Amino acid sequence: MSRRYRVAVIPGDGIGREVVPEGLRCLRAAADLHGFELETAEFGFASAEYWVRHGEMLPPDWRDVLGGFDAIFFGAVGWPEVVPDHVSLWGSLLRFRRGFDQYVNLRPVRLLRGVRSPLRDREPGDIDFLVVRENTEGEYSSIGGRIFDGTDRETVLQETVMTRTGVDRVLRYAFELAAARPRRHLTWATKSNGISISMPYWDERAEAMARQYPQVAADKDHIDILTAKFVLRPDSYDVVVASNLFGDILSDLGPACAGTIGIAPSANINPDRTWPSLFEPVHGSAPDIAGRGIANPVGQIWSGAMMLEHLGETTAAAGIVAAIESVLDEQPGVLTPDLGGAGTTEGLGKAIATAIGAAS
Ligand code: NAI
Ligand code: MG
Repeated sequence: MSRRYRVAVIPGDGIGREVVPEGLRCLRAAADLHGFELETAEFGFASAEYWVRHGEMLPPDWRDVLGGFDAIFFGAVGWPEVVPDHVSLWGSLLRFRRGFDQYVNLRPVRLLRGVRSPLRDREPGDIDFLVVRENTEGEYSSIGGRIFDGTDRETVLQETVMTRTGVDRVLRYAFELAAARPRRHLTWATKSNGISISMPYWDERAEAMARQYPQVAADKDHIDILTAKFVLRPDSYDVVVASNLFGDILSDLGPACAGTIGIAPSANINPDRTWPSLFEPVHGSAPDIAGRGIANPVGQIWSGAMMLEHLGETTAAAGIVAAIESVLDEQPGVLTPDLGGAGTTEGLGKAIATAIGAAS
């Protein structure tokens, strides 16, 4: 019997609806070539349109609706003209991440052939690392409050939450990743010289974890110099693991150093596989270019490759990334405007799907 995966598809808003079909086109090409089946079901929630009709971003039974799928293939959510951004994000994506305990946010940062880095003199191969962000706790807690509103004593407090379970599990994931890569190098982001309670704890747990992985060369960088070194010496990183806030920043800065935000993929992973993991491009719904058919579909397509990797279809995943790279490098005529071309979302998607099929 052939391998078969059930995937929930949520296009969301704006260019999410334009790039998701191209992602699916490429996933189908890979499935045909490698002999597995994708059974997809598309959902219209997690969108401004759904919110206008229901006053909510998600149906009340969303956990039951989505919980049984093998993975979620997500576009982008957000249409600030209609729904405030904190409502659309907290009402959908952040509920998936927490409700499905997707405690790892993984973003590969790789300078591909055919893409120019905004950093001078950087070649493909110079930038190739992974950012692992803690995705469920840390600085993004809702513990805190506000008192004496509107008076001189107005006081605002928001706590950072670090649990041993939460810290150790994301560190372990990152060390396992590093141990499986040729360079076996891990850097953890910290700020223990300034944040004097939680960050020294993070360091302490990282040092304890490092002792369990003697084969991995592990070191730490304070977040301030780390951001500078992403720009100045991106070749010195292999796996970078960070708390929720620091990881958020690094995982936008990293892809920016490797070219356009339009090509960057990400995975929200529940490594225990109790719940489905969610795969989405780094970019948002881009209202400024939505509806014009010029959005770059590569971030979505590459996210599809990460999904296949997670599902165990490693060869197919590598084939998609290779097809992306060859098209970007060899077919300037299909590149979208953000890559300096005059092509369309569909044109670039089709070219990559064709390259996937031709790779046999
Ligand atoms: P954005 O990523 O949507 O757009 C930033 C800039 O990059 C825009 O100029 C846009 O045209 C360009 N861009 C983004 N993706 C592109 C692509 N595939 N091809 C070509 N150009 C691309 O971020 P922005 O403008 O801050 O947010 C817009 C909306 O998206 C907001 O509602 C925001 O909340 C939401 N958002 C959602 C995310 C998600 O669903 N994970 C992530 C980030 C933002
Ligand atoms: Mg971000």
